[in-house]
Amino acid sequence: MATTVDVRLGDRSYPIWIGRGLLGSLGSLCRERGLTGHALLVTDSGIAPLYGEAAADSLAAAGIASAAAVVPAGEASKTHDRLLELYRAAVEAGLDRSSFVVALGGGVVGDLAGFMAATYLRGVRYVQVPTSLLAMVDSSVGGKTGVDLPWGKNLVGAFHQPSLVVVDLDTLPTLPAAEFRSGMAEVVKYGLIRDASLFGTIERLGPAALDPAGATFEEVVAACCRHKAEVVAADEREGGLRATLNFGHTLGHALEAATGFARWRHGEAVAIGMAYAARLSVRLTGLPPADHDRILSVLRGLGLPTTSAVADLCWSEVAAAMARDKKAAGRVPRFVLLERIGSARYGIEVPAEVLKEAWDALRQ
Ligand code: GLY
Repeated sequence: MATTVDVRLGDRSYPIWIGRGLLGSLGSLCRERGLTGHALLVTDSGIAPLYGEAAADSLAAAGIASAAAVVPAGEASKTHDRLLELYRAAVEAGLDRSSFVVALGGGVVGDLAGFMAATYLRGVRYVQVPTSLLAMVDSSVGGKTGVDLPWGKNLVGAFHQPSLVVVDLDTLPTLPAAEFRSGMAEVVKYGLIRDASLFGTIERLGPAALDPAGATFEEVVAACCRHKAEVVAADEREGGLRATLNFGHTLGHALEAATGFARWRHGEAVAIGMAYAARLSVRLTGLPPADHDRILSVLRGLGLPTTSAVADLCWSEVAAAMARDKKAAGRVPRFVLLERIGSARYGIEVPAEVLKEAWDALRQ
């Protein structure tokens, strides 16, 4: 049994397949989508020994020849140097415009290989095969691709939609527990911005929500993919609604930047950012205080950081990092805030004194 979710973007529409054991069907799913040329299978040093062979075998069984390119695991691979290595691998493997790229891994592999596919020969098709929870529910869907620059994350990139996304939940048990928790922060985010019932499910399941083998887990991932697909279909280029996906990210990104991307995983920083945004929401957009408390309790129950984790950080540095955020307008950060659990507003300017007040409260 598998679930499919369609991302409806006219002639660039594509399906997301979600289920167990789907890696074995990767080749046939590619073929069904008309992807039959030579493939470059991009993965990282952590995933290659686990799933590289299964992916290549599945492609071969469907009559698709592939060459492999393996980058070191970790954010440090999202650079132009690694990109150049991928272009070289593509040239050496003789990839042409009928060829395609398969991104097998977490968000780093997806962003890097996706950007390579967006730019090689002015764009070839690609398939996302996410193996981290965060990539499954967020980064593999929606076509954001890119690399980092020495001056900041994701500063160079392109919108380039994949032709297919294959989410095999059986790859999750090998994901380190902390990475899994980090992905759960993005799951909670969908509940908060769009789906009170999803939030209620996570609240009810508690730590059982952390069991990828659990009966409801496929439905939880599918619900997130459905939300992502709907938002992207409505606002592919982030002119409006897509900004709601940045709930918790304004402070989250600033915390990552202010600590050299070394202290927290992305989802952990976003969890603190969501706690902060929830507090701002009580003050500015009418979120009931009891819902603020429920949000903190769910995040903590999942083992995610929320408040006092930032006690040693300097506000002026964090505020400056928020002002540098890609989504800031004229150096004024814009926030996504909640009216209630399941309903968000975006583009909200928050007075400086309110930002500081909420920060002080977060540190207690
Ligand atoms: N990760 C946020 C987005 O895809 O827009």
